[in-house]
Amino acid sequence: PLPADVKVLDHSYSRDEFTNITSRIASHVGRNLHLQKFHPLNIVQQRITNYFYQNFVSAGRSPIFSLYNNLSPIVSVNQNFDSLLIPKDHVSRCKSDCYYINSELLLRAHMTAHQSELLLAGLNNFLMVGDVYRRDEIDRSHYPVFHQLDAVRLRTRDELFPSDSSLQIFEQGNNTDSFGGQEKQACHTLEAAKLMEHELKSTLEGLATHLFGDVEYRWVDTQFPFTQPSWELEVFYNNDWLELLGCGIMRQPILTNSGISDRIGWAFGIGLERVAMCLYKIPDIRLFWSKDSGFLCQFKTHNINEAITYKEISQFPQCTNDLSFWLPENAEFSSNDFYDLVRSEGGDLVEQVQLIDNFVHPKNNKTSHCYRITYRHMQRTLTQREAGIIHNKIAQAAESRLFVTLRL
Ligand code: PHE
Repeated sequence: PLPADVKVLDHSYSRDEFTNITSRIASHVGRNLHLQKFHPLNIVQQRITNYFYQNFVSAGRSPIFSLYNNLSPIVSVNQNFDSLLIPKDHVSRCKSDCYYINSELLLRAHMTAHQSELLLAGLNNFLMVGDVYRRDEIDRSHYPVFHQLDAVRLRTRDELFPSDSSLQIFEQGNNTDSFGGQEKQACHTLEAAKLMEHELKSTLEGLATHLFGDVEYRWVDTQFPFTQPSWELEVFYNNDWLELLGCGIMRQPILTNSGISDRIGWAFGIGLERVAMCLYKIPDIRLFWSKDSGFLCQFKTHNINEAITYKEISQFPQCTNDLSFWLPENAEFSSNDFYDLVRSEGGDLVEQVQLIDNFVHPKNNKTSHCYRITYRHMQRTLTQREAGIIHNKIAQAAESRLFVTLRL
């Protein structure tokens, strides 16, 4: 039987049919790795904010971007979705993708959740950094908690076109152009949209160079509900294309809903773990949560631009165990439910979970899943016996909580 309330950071919230946050996930709230001195995520945050401080200054030469890195990760459905024009039936709202505290509150799934409130507060240029929470697969580059930096920049007509009073940023156009309405929003003039696109892209190309040096990069068209047009920036680093960030021209209703009628804006969001893993060659995302000095002391530098290459403390052996079961016939089952259960029972000893077999029995129509779970301790050798004990706990928990039938 579950307690009636959910506890997150010493606060109690009432549980309802949306609640799916686990106490293990809740225990990560408040760790604030991005604020921890000498933590690699803190170094990456500083490197990105410095780039904006240096490149965007007022006439008096002070930085114009302000930094918000202490916003609560507990947000409303309105903040995370509605205020960003995310449709009511959009997949990103699914219980299988987010950690809901209850039907009104969740752990933010992206830093963009704070965009509207900071616009409403009257800010024109700002950066937001923090921990974000998503239910996802389990492997060496995915963890249900990670960190993002988001930015917003707004521009007025006079700032965009200081020497030409005939150019405007708004028009009453329709959205149909040769690119099927994707090229710009109907309310923007082509000149303003193109100029914003240019400033956005050159800013982010500069950021990529600031972080990675002289790298090859490419722009990929994409879609977000809160920007149009939207792009992803990929950089070629360590012999691989790395999806670095998402960005775009802010959808105008987000601004008007915050009482802004005379500005056009661009925004982007970048994941900090990805950058740090690449820059410092950190092989496993679980290491960021390590309290082991063998990890942390490698980043104790007073020069945040110093090139650091992480040296593995040592590679301890993996233990691999498979688990097969029939899915429940009268209850819902999503793989993410199983991944959370594995996280809760196995903690950070679990390195990877792979669905290696998925079939429907031709006679009784029952579905069977087989998951391969890889266990590895980050600081010592895990014995097959220890891994076996955890594996059995996972099997039993899956049986009693997810109503699966084990195949032994
Ligand atoms: N919120 C997006 C994500 O999490 C990133 C993004 C931010 C895209 C701002 C466009 C503008 O992937």
